[in-house]
Formats: sequence, structure tokens, C-alpha cells
Amino acid sequence: MKKGIDTLQSKIAEAWKGGGEHRIEHQHQKGKLTARERIEVLLDQNSFEELGMLVTHRSVDFGMDKEKYYGDGVITGYGTIHSRPVYVFSQDFTVFGGSLSEAHAEKICRIMDLAVANGIPLIGLNDSGGARIQEGVVSLGGYADIFYRNTLASGVIPQISAIMGPCAGGAVYSPAITDFIFMVDHTSYMFVTGPNVVKTVTNETITSEELGGAMTHASYSGVAHLVAENDVECLQSIRRLMTYLPQSRLEKTPKMAYNLQPSEIRPVLNTIIPDNPQQPYDMKEIISGIIDADSFYELHANYAENIVIGFGRIGGQSIGIVANQPAHLAGVLDVNSSKKGARFVRFCDAFNIPLLVLVDVPGFLPGKDQEWNAIITNGAKLLYAFSEATVPRITIITRKAYGGAYDVMNSKHIGADFNYAWPSAEIAVMGSKGASEIIFRKEIAGASDPVAKLAEMESRYADKFANPYLAAERGYVDEIIEPQKTREKLLKSYAVLRNKQIAAPTKKHGNIPL
Ligand code: HXC
Repeated sequence: MKKGIDTLQSKIAEAWKGGGEHRIEHQHQKGKLTARERIEVLLDQNSFEELGMLVTHRSVDFGMDKEKYYGDGVITGYGTIHSRPVYVFSQDFTVFGGSLSEAHAEKICRIMDLAVANGIPLIGLNDSGGARIQEGVVSLGGYADIFYRNTLASGVIPQISAIMGPCAGGAVYSPAITDFIFMVDHTSYMFVTGPNVVKTVTNETITSEELGGAMTHASYSGVAHLVAENDVECLQSIRRLMTYLPQSRLEKTPKMAYNLQPSEIRPVLNTIIPDNPQQPYDMKEIISGIIDADSFYELHANYAENIVIGFGRIGGQSIGIVANQPAHLAGVLDVNSSKKGARFVRFCDAFNIPLLVLVDVPGFLPGKDQEWNAIITNGAKLLYAFSEATVPRITIITRKAYGGAYDVMNSKHIGADFNYAWPSAEIAVMGSKGASEIIFRKEIAGASDPVAKLAEMESRYADKFANPYLAAERGYVDEIIEPQKTREKLLKSYAVLRNKQIAAPTKKHGNIPL
């Protein structure tokens, strides 16, 4: 037996060496952790159990039969985060640059299958040069096996991707199908083709950072949801994200213990909206005034900043927040903000996370750029996502709710459960000036002082429509509430929506305007 145990231990020791000391050192020099070190930071202490440690590739071409490493460039297994199980894979860049071979793909597929069958989230730590070039089509097949599983698992279990090194070619499409993408600033890159191919095909000269660095994807493309300064921050951020999520679509969202305070009134909320309706304010101040202290977890913070999305808690209960941001482009809805909001709403709906929607929106952004980039189709994504959501849905109109954007932003008409407005709300087809110029055109043109006439008509229109009372008379708004009482109202409202169940019409799946 001793001999057998010695053999086992020497194989385990070899597996732990990955691609060897000098490659590990190189990884550290780049400011990156190794695949195993990352798992240590991600999971609860000593909770990791590895599967497939001794797997090797089967390739023989180009001398590959003489170069084999246990694990074949990916560590797979399971462990816990805050005592709840997760499956995890972590690509090992020290072994063939973390590239994906047939055996490497099989290891990932195996834990994906286990994660889905058991209703447990999947976390992928990606650090890969893409398809293992020496294996050719076999590695392409391996990628497709993973993409297929990612798609089938979508909406069944949460899938989280961290990009922790260069991810090229096939290495980007699996993360793209998952729910959230984290990137590490200055050490992670995502692109379908790197700068060299770009130069050859389009004659464009561009750096990796500019083409597919973390800030590029966090601000321009919107591919990345969160950027971390380094590996440790990234992994800790994933641990925090997991506290808001259920294990699978069959579970309710986690609820932290919360004792109702003697007073849940938040006086600060009465002071945030400026007297001048044209003046901006920061919607994030309202969010933090409403939700549990320090519970806001913002996603896509640098992309389409005119809409704010993220998780929070109310009375310990996870919620998904979608809010117009008047401090950026007056909170207008445009192509990017509609896409950003829609995908988040669909995630929350798939995983039973109640929605809170805060509205201060002047409308959709007009213009050729928006029309040519399909604001019609993209705006419809947000409309569709809210309309099909069956989770508890509450809306608060803090100020403007104009035009089609009023309808889209989780209005009563498209299935919201409770719609509240603050006294500062303005709910109308359009702003007073634009409306007066159209409907009082003749009176204004015929007036001895057209400017004064416009101002008079504008003020009449505003008195009539720029308030929440007509909507309240119709029942489109359930109640007009004092801002400081909002949190108290929400605690009660979510409590009576907790068991909400509505039967969606039977169909295979809808056809969201993609
Ligand atoms: C096999 C690979 C590899 C790959 C890297 N290596 N990529 N081995 N297949 N795809 C190996 C290198 O030979 C090297 O081995 C080690 O990994 C580290 O690579 P370096 O180049 O030294 O590292 P670095 O300078 O950091 O550059 C990393 C990199 C670069 C940017 C990822 O290696 C690179 O451009 N690789 C190729 C990327 C690519 O074109 N992949 C195929 C995409 S096509 P040694 O022995 O020296 O340590 C694809 C199709 C799928 O993925 C499509 C599905 C939709």
C-alpha cells in the first residue's frame, strides 16, 4: 500500500506544479495569481474538492505526446461560497497558455452538467489563449460543446465568468453567453481576433488594451459588467455577488436576517429632488436612501450611465434595481441603456429576484444616430423584458415620466404590481414646452407677444399635466407618497408580493426583439 500511496502523492505533487515553476513565476510577474491560487481566494477556506486532476490530453501531433501536464490546463471541481455550493473551473495559463484541448473541454463540460443537474451555480475563471492550436478541429468541437451547455444552462443556474488573462477566439463566446462577466484591469483582454489579425484584415493599428481591455469592455462595448483592480479584488467581488443570487431558478433569492427598525422613515429622501425640474441629481443617492445600508451592488457602472442597474436588499431581501439616472444625459433612454436594462431585468426574472424600478426619464433620445442604431428594436427589448417579467415588480416615479418611456419603465399597464409616485412626479405625453408649441401653435402665432403667450400656455399645460394626480385618478399610480416614507412602503409592499405567482401564457419561448 505504501508504494501505491507514494505514487499517488507524487502524481498529485506533479499536478500542483502545473506548467512548471518558471511559468508560475512568469504568471506572478504579470501580477496574476495561478489557477489554484484563484480558487483558494474564491471559495471558502479548504472547501475545494477537485475533479479530474490527473486528466491529460490525447494529442500526438507536433510532439505533443511528449509534453503532457496533469489537469491539461484547467482545474475543475466544487466548493462553497458563504457555505453554499458552487461548481468552478479555473484555466491554468501555465499549461499551453490555458488553451482548450479536447480533454480540457470535457472537464469543463462535466462540471457544467453536474451544476445543472444539481441546481448549483457555475463560476468560470478564464485565462486562455483559445483553441489548442495543435489539436485543430477537435478543440473547436470542444468549444461548441461548452457553448451549447452554457445556452441550455442559461436561466437554470447562475453562470458567472471572470476574465483573468488574455481571452481570444473561442475563449470569449462562452463568457458572452453567461450572466455576468468580470474583468481585471490591465491583465485581462477579450477579443474575437487580436491586434495582429486586426492589422492584417483592416490595416488598423490598435493595442490589446484599446481593442479588448477591461475598461474598453466596461465602458464602450458593455461586454464586461464589472472591472476589478486585481485578481483578489475580482474574486472577492464574485463572492459578494453570490450573496444576492439564488442557487438556481427553483430557489427563492436569499434573505438575510433583518429586524424591522422602530422607524424606517428616511428624512434625507425629502431633500434630494431639486426645486428646479431641469436640474439634475444623483439617482444613486435615492437608491442608497431606500435600500438596506451599504447593500447596493452596482453592475455596468461605466456603461450607459443614463440607466443604473444593480442588486440591493430591502429588509434583507435581494432585489434588482433599474433606475434612470438624471445626472447623466438627463436619464434619457437610448440604445445602450435599453439593452443594459433589458438584460438585467431578464436575469432577475429568470432567478426570482424582485424588481424595483425608479423612474425619472424625459423620454427616448431622438436623432439619426439613435434611429440608425435601431432605438426602435432596442427600446423594445426593455419594454419586452419588463412586460414578460413575472417576479414582484414595484415602480417609483421620482420626477419625470414622459412619453413612451413612461410606458416602458415598468408601468402598471405592462404588469407592474405597485406603482408609486412622489409629489414631484410629472407624468405626461411630453414636456410642457414641446407640448404647448404643438397644441397652442395658432394661439401663440396670433399673439401680440408670442414669447409671453408660449410661457403662459406652458405654465397652463404644466399645471394641468406635470404632476402625478391625473395618473392617480386613473389608478395608473396606486399612491402618491412622501419620499421619506418610501422605504417603509416598500418593506410592506414586497412582503405582500413575496408569494406572487402568475401563469405566463403557454409557449415554447417568446421572440424578444434581439
Ligand atoms: C496552444 C498556446 C496557445 C494556443 C498560447 N499557447 N496560446 N498553445 N494553443 N491557442 C502557449 C504558447 O505557445 C506558450 O507556450 C504559452 O502558451 C504562453 O503563451 P505566450 O504567447 O508566451 O504568452 P503571452 O505572450 O502572454 O501571449 C498570450 C496570447 C498568445 C495573447 C494568448 O499566446 C496568443 O496570441 N495565442 C494564440 C491566440 C489564438 O490565436 N488562439 C486561437 C484562437 S482561434 P510556452 O511553451 O512557450 O509556455 C479559436 C477558435 C475557436 O479560439 C472559435 C470558436 C468560436
